[in-house]
Amino acid sequence: MTTTPATAVPFFPPDLFEADRAELIGLVREVGLDQEQRFILGARTAAFEELLRADLGAADVVACSSGTAALSLVLRAMDLGPGDEVIVPAFGCAPLASSVVTVGATPVFADIRPDTMTMDPDDAERLVTERTRAVMPAHMFSVMADMPRFAELARRHGLRLPEDSAVAQGGVLRGVPAGLWGEAGVYSFVQVKTCGMPGEGGVVITRDPALGERVRMLRNHGQPPGRRFVHHAVGVNSRFDEIQAAFQTHRYAGLPARLARRAEIAAYYTERFTPLADRGVTPPPPDPDGRCFYVYTVLADAREALAAHLAEHGVAAHVYYPRPLPAHRAFAPYAPPGARWPRAEEAARRHLALPVHHLLTDAQVQRVADLVCAFAAGHG
Ligand SMILES: Cc1ncc(COP(=O)(O)O)c(C=O)c1O
Repeated sequence: MTTTPATAVPFFPPDLFEADRAELIGLVREVGLDQEQRFILGARTAAFEELLRADLGAADVVACSSGTAALSLVLRAMDLGPGDEVIVPAFGCAPLASSVVTVGATPVFADIRPDTMTMDPDDAERLVTERTRAVMPAHMFSVMADMPRFAELARRHGLRLPEDSAVAQGGVLRGVPAGLWGEAGVYSFVQVKTCGMPGEGGVVITRDPALGERVRMLRNHGQPPGRRFVHHAVGVNSRFDEIQAAFQTHRYAGLPARLARRAEIAAYYTERFTPLADRGVTPPPPDPDGRCFYVYTVLADAREALAAHLAEHGVAAHVYYPRPLPAHRAFAPYAPPGARWPRAEEAARRHLALPVHHLLTDAQVQRVADLVCAFAAGHG
């Protein structure tokens, strides 16, 4: 009998920053010994913001303490608050709902599309009331939400359009980068994201300079840029670290290559898995536009058995959201009594994310695909 090491194919690479170790240590020294002794919101943060702004063609980019903080700053900057309803997807990560609650507004949950697992624009529109102030689509796993439809919906109903693009840095739909379809979007830099870093951080990106200016003020206790101890709004502490800014600037040039490797792995998986749809394993929709392979997720009828089969053979897979958001105790108070989100429930039951990071070898990728195919052959 052959035994397989438990970590044969890790879900996240344990050596993600190994190639940049010397650079990182050098930056700790450089920033630590800099005569200026400025460790947050200094020239390195400004340079990183400008690098992203110019690359994306945004009006402004504002670095802050996390993707979650970025979402809350966007909603605050839009003056959303008590009495306002914000339509969010029923399937996704907690900040989608908690950021709305944090500003005192009410999340209203819309169901998702069964194939893309992103918010369904038709269901979102059905939920618009006279209290609705915003609709907040989110990109999910590898697929960007139907932003053209949401932009049109927001325009028609006079709604604000924050975009949760936390997982989609590098995604482009119809030529527009993720984060710039909405009035403001966000990226998360927590290590697992496409442009992750060794620590917490995020940015707000916007095509609206006035909104950018307001976010910039709110992230630093409501102080206008360059003026300390002068508060024009009730803000928060959501500042960005200088070492991380320099490190992100250093790694940014490698982002397209890392994304291309992820897309290559995803294309191989999709080619192998497309014939499995009638055997209980469905890959994400193949359209290459609006894709960003933060995570590669299949829908599996026998999800637990597939995950166990992969684990037995040393492949780590991951269930992200085991239940829809309104099914959590935290968000149940915002769910109308008796309401159901059948497609979100189904996605919660069936989704399984496979390793797709850029450091996987071809042999590891083939091994994952072989194992999934063998499982489907035995269970279809
Ligand atoms: C869709 C989405 N929005 C927001 C966030 C929050 O980002 P952060 O972890 O940087 O706070 C995440 C994090 O995974 C996310 O997946």
